[in-house]
Amino acid sequence: MAKNYRIAVLPGDGTGPEVVREALKALDAAAQKTGFTTEKTHYDLGGERYLKTGEILPEETLEELRKFDAILLGAIGHPDVKPGILEKGLLLELRFKLDQYVNLRPVILYPGVETPLKDKGPEDIQFVVVRENTEGLYAGAGGFLRKGTPHEVAVQESINTRMGAERCIRFAFDYCRKRNYRKKLTLCGKTNVLTYAFDLWQRAFYDVAKEYPDIETDYVHVDAICMWMIKNPEWFDVIVTDNLFGDIITDLGAMIQGGLGIAAGGNINPGGVSMFEPIGGSAPKYTGKNIINPVAAIAAAQMMLEHLGETSAAALIENAIKKVVSSDLKSLSAGQMGYSTSEVGDLVVKYIGAVTRD
Ligand code: IPM
Ligand code: MN
Repeated sequence: MAKNYRIAVLPGDGTGPEVVREALKALDAAAQKTGFTTEKTHYDLGGERYLKTGEILPEETLEELRKFDAILLGAIGHPDVKPGILEKGLLLELRFKLDQYVNLRPVILYPGVETPLKDKGPEDIQFVVVRENTEGLYAGAGGFLRKGTPHEVAVQESINTRMGAERCIRFAFDYCRKRNYRKKLTLCGKTNVLTYAFDLWQRAFYDVAKEYPDIETDYVHVDAICMWMIKNPEWFDVIVTDNLFGDIITDLGAMIQGGLGIAAGGNINPGGVSMFEPIGGSAPKYTGKNIINPVAAIAAAQMMLEHLGETSAAALIENAIKKVVSSDLKSLSAGQMGYSTSEVGDLVVKYIGAVTRD
């Protein structure tokens, strides 16, 4: 019998629903072509629901989400909601409560896509960032003292557990081995200043490294990596880093791979439910115009299929993305693609080669 996957779909805010629609089109086409089925359940979590009902992530919804095979997320962030409320209450809450302890972010330049890096091409920009996703400065530890007074104090602490760093590092070594590219794992930190947090990370890194003699190891400070990602991106294969540094360097990574229109990521819990998303935001100014680039969301669906073990379906989507970005789109930027959001989805579906119903 054909396999069936239960997918929770969280279109979210802004352009999220528009890009998720196209990602689902690609998913259905790839499923049809390779012979599995999906059962999708939509959830209206996000800014609109919060503004109407005050609910962000009800406990029973969270419990339901635990039971899916995977989650596909559009975007979180609403112009009428104060920054931090939805980000922390929904996106980070999902990552934390579902213990999605790795944020996997490929930085891959496809042929035909323009990079701002002079003299660099697809052979140079081919790395993956493994970002710790449940700890660090994101843990929310800290608080105010004497808030609102001239003597106000704000403390925001970085939480780093040996268990948390180690499981992320081990995932990165495994991933690097499976990827079988340069077989090089780079730890990105700041051991010269953050002498507690990254001391722990560095010890964990080199301890785990002993189990992976086939993987070359390297260490680079976060400020320096921003330099080398621009100057010599070809040095990198897999990079492992903490939550905040991973957040920052993957936006830099997204730019060198062609922009937020193409960058996708997976929030991974290897033993639980994982969630896949385009890494760009909700783009309020493009909302509802059918001009946003859906490729990042389609790439998120591709990552989801890889994670589920549907490798041929994932490869079909990846090849379709490559064709669209190299031969059709004028640019990856919203409104400049030469096609509408839904037309880009149609092209991807065409290249996947499934027989459409209409
Ligand atoms: C990302 C985003 C989030 C983060 C925000 C929206 C909370 O920037 O997924 O990279 O900082 O992790
Ligand atoms: Mn970010």
